[in-house]
Amino acid sequence: MDSDVLTRTARAATAQPPTHDPLWWRSAVIYQVYVRSFADADGDGTGDLAGVRAHLGYLKDLGVDAIWFNPWYPSPMADGGYDVVDYRDIHPQFGTLADAEALIREALALGIRTIIDVVPNHISDQHPWFQEALAAEPGSPARERFWFHPGKGENGDEIPTHWVSSFQGETWTRTTNPDGTPGEWYLHMFTPEQPDLNWNHPDVRREHEEILRFWFDRGVAGVRIDSAALLIKDADLPEVGEKQGPGQHPTEDRDELHDVYRSWRAIADSYAGTRVLVGEIWVPDIDRFAAYLRDDEMHTAFNFDFLARPWGAASFRESIRQTLAAHAPVGAPSTWVLSNHDVTRPVTRYGRADTTFAFLKKRFGVPTDPELGRNRARAAALLVAALPGSLYIYQGDELGLPEVEDLPRDLIEDPMHYRSGGVDPGRDGCRVPLPWAGDEPPFAFSPDGSRTWLPQPPQWRALTVEAQRSDPHSTFSLYRDALALRRDLPALGDGDLDWWDDALPGADDVLAFRRGDDFACIVNTGEDPVSLGPLIGAGGQILLASSPLEGASLPGDSTAWLRLTSLTTTTHPAG
Ligand code: GLC
Repeated sequence: MDSDVLTRTARAATAQPPTHDPLWWRSAVIYQVYVRSFADADGDGTGDLAGVRAHLGYLKDLGVDAIWFNPWYPSPMADGGYDVVDYRDIHPQFGTLADAEALIREALALGIRTIIDVVPNHISDQHPWFQEALAAEPGSPARERFWFHPGKGENGDEIPTHWVSSFQGETWTRTTNPDGTPGEWYLHMFTPEQPDLNWNHPDVRREHEEILRFWFDRGVAGVRIDSAALLIKDADLPEVGEKQGPGQHPTEDRDELHDVYRSWRAIADSYAGTRVLVGEIWVPDIDRFAAYLRDDEMHTAFNFDFLARPWGAASFRESIRQTLAAHAPVGAPSTWVLSNHDVTRPVTRYGRADTTFAFLKKRFGVPTDPELGRNRARAAALLVAALPGSLYIYQGDELGLPEVEDLPRDLIEDPMHYRSGGVDPGRDGCRVPLPWAGDEPPFAFSPDGSRTWLPQPPQWRALTVEAQRSDPHSTFSLYRDALALRRDLPALGDGDLDWWDDALPGADDVLAFRRGDDFACIVNTGEDPVSLGPLIGAGGQILLASSPLEGASLPGDSTAWLRLTSLTTTTHPAG
């Protein structure tokens, strides 16, 4: 039995499934498992559910409340599993439905809830519905579930619209008729292997409602809704134009979407325990974003604004202020997200001259200062863990893994890379299998001798779970300590935040706020140290810091958490 199993067994005896807390999702720490790269039990180089089950003790020890699994369904993997063939089963490389059921149960016995990914905008081109549609005549009912359309022009060989794919390039592919002549076109906002569903069709709505019930019946505590703002399209197929007002874009954030989520919310609310809807919503207008979080729609949505912002007190403060202000009227908690399986790892992003994130800007060969990136990523981790709302941690960020930027080109699978003509490195660099233990690949991700689906850098020997667990200064220890404090301090998680702009007067690169009466978070985004002397001298006590303090001095690119025992009577929050 490995130590994870021992820990798991020991804690299972005392763990109470936290089903009694209907508001668990407002403060939850949710750990994102990209199954393919978490842990491989059967030695095929690809992660699996048995691998996750063997490491549940690790997640318990880290201190998470829930796991969000990226799609785990049967899929040809044209887009890492976001091309689903069967929403009611498990990819054979990952295991079986029975494994998933056991995993959900075992995690809950440790107090860890399960959130699964549902992908409603599109399905795999290998899904029976699409195969049936391809085999059917133009105009037939089987095609109505999708967006089949004749092309423009005399021979129908002109694309129906010039809508641009989120993966760059065109969004329509022409079919071939059974007699070999060119046929209708079909819509795909992502790759041609991911045909878009027609959400005006009752079958599509019914099917997804049943999928939700299928998984809620199996005990999942929530769903992450992929590409949640894309489902509804304008059936007149207009080009994207300047005159379209809010809610009228042909493919994004259309007003009719809210009805879909109201019906999903009614299903979620019909189950015992709070089953949550979490939207993946990339909508630039923060008020329109918040509209999805009204009482009878989704519970929360990923807040991507923060991760796209440049490093710095002013930009972070602005993002946090806007986010909290937009959520307040709908009463929903914010989410805080430093990364996920789609974006450049924080350690790499924050070590660059340009620390913002945008998909279209990704390039090979951008220089990074790893130490700077590491310090900032640690500081950012403490910052977001102190903010009001729920917190997402993408697997490997708790180990401080960098983006792997030198993957052999022929091993890259991500369609974003190929659809950019090889200009965009794609997202595989943040999807490299986790290093668990040992001195060389596969670092106990797979049994020795196995070849992982993406190669791990040999330098990751210093970043394995084994190497970090016993080191009190490691990034893993920082995360574990932060999550333990977050659990213990009632002021953290859901609640209010009080800006403390005059905590350290004149320190422009400092972001400071208070939670409750006696907790403060101080972030020094500048290069130079700042003295926390005035705070410590007045009775403050350092709870945790992302870099070692030198005396009372908080180094640059660092965050400290403080307990403010006797300060409460002498200072006032700024706003
Ligand atoms: C979401 C997923 C991403 C996927 C896309 C298409 O953005 O996070 O990984 O490629 O949807 O399903």
